[in-house]
Amino acid sequence: MPDGAQPVLQVRGLKTVFRTRAGEVHAVNDVSFHLRRGELLGVVGESGSGKSVTMMSLLRLLPAPPAEIRSGEVLLDGRDLLKISDAELREVRGGKVGFVFQDPMTSLNPVFTVGMQITEALRRHMGLDKAAAETRAVDLLELVGIPDARKRLGAYPHQFSGGMRQRVMIAIALSCDPDVLIADEPTTALDVTIQAQILELVKELRRKLGMAIIWITHDLGVIAGIADRVMVMYGGQVVEQAPVRELFANPQHPYTRALLQTIPKISGEREARLKVIEGQPPMLAAVPAACAFRDRCEFRHDRCDRENPLRRPVDGKTLGQGHDVACHWQAPAAARPQEVAHA
Ligand SMILES: Nc1ncnc2c1ncn2[C@@H]1O[C@H](COP(=O)(O)OP(=O)(O)O)[C@@H](O)[C@H]1O
Ligand SMILES: [Mg+2]
Repeated sequence: MPDGAQPVLQVRGLKTVFRTRAGEVHAVNDVSFHLRRGELLGVVGESGSGKSVTMMSLLRLLPAPPAEIRSGEVLLDGRDLLKISDAELREVRGGKVGFVFQDPMTSLNPVFTVGMQITEALRRHMGLDKAAAETRAVDLLELVGIPDARKRLGAYPHQFSGGMRQRVMIAIALSCDPDVLIADEPTTALDVTIQAQILELVKELRRKLGMAIIWITHDLGVIAGIADRVMVMYGGQVVEQAPVRELFANPQHPYTRALLQTIPKISGEREARLKVIEGQPPMLAAVPAACAFRDRCEFRHDRCDRENPLRRPVDGKTLGQGHDVACHWQAPAAARPQEVAHA
């Protein structure tokens, strides 16, 4: 892992709200993180924790209104994506940054052939002519493991299985040699075997192409198998982040610890019932003035009701560089390493 490498992406103090009839929803509250070149950052958190809104805010993909990015910086190679023109941003989307959405059916346009959808991206972003775009489209489809690629250029999305459509989406996201690939729960809708195949594919592509990846999932088991570093989100905030082994060996936030307990163990404990995290995720009607996790936390104390904890380094490193957590409670030092099923 390129530890000292310059970040390709640096997000600082991102705040996104939705204005709804019932009032404001504070979906993303002061989120900061970075992504190093070639690194795979896993983002986890249960549904509603702000993962998608964060990533869509980076590329200004949310409809405004109701969405409003209140503040923050999104530096891609030093350029703030929140400040550049719409035209420049269109170059970045699908150019330097590839994006794979959650639902393959809604992401590919059903009325155009797969070939047209890939070549369109290539012609627009890379200025290739029709013949060159088709050649590259075939290469890309082969790269993501689609058999008979040239023949399949003329097929429509519904003629592909869910797993194959997802591979096509990945091919499109990769078509312009992105520096960053953002994958938002790309395997959630797929069955477990296909999920495993897609994960293998991504590992292999990363080895071959060396791009940095943000992989969003609500499944820490998936993260264990592929990530270098993990960021845990809760209530629109980053509550913990650490290199993957460190996070699994030494989880600090009570929410992370609870998430880890929801992963099946490999050692003959498959039968054991999964622990469910009790309680509801917070309604994000206000910026939290207290800890957002307190109602569900077994370690809650007075300070948690008065003060939203700031992120602090756990390991003495600069904030963001090692292991940090946003929690008033101090986890006991020698937490037992977790044995996890690798995805
Ligand atoms: N269009 C919208 N209008 C109002 N609230 C929204 C909208 N989209 C998302 N939200 C809210 O933003 C919060 C974060 O959502 P999201 O980022 O999609 O969560 P995740 O991807 O972690 O499941 C949720 O509380 C969700 O209800
Ligand atoms: Mg989501």
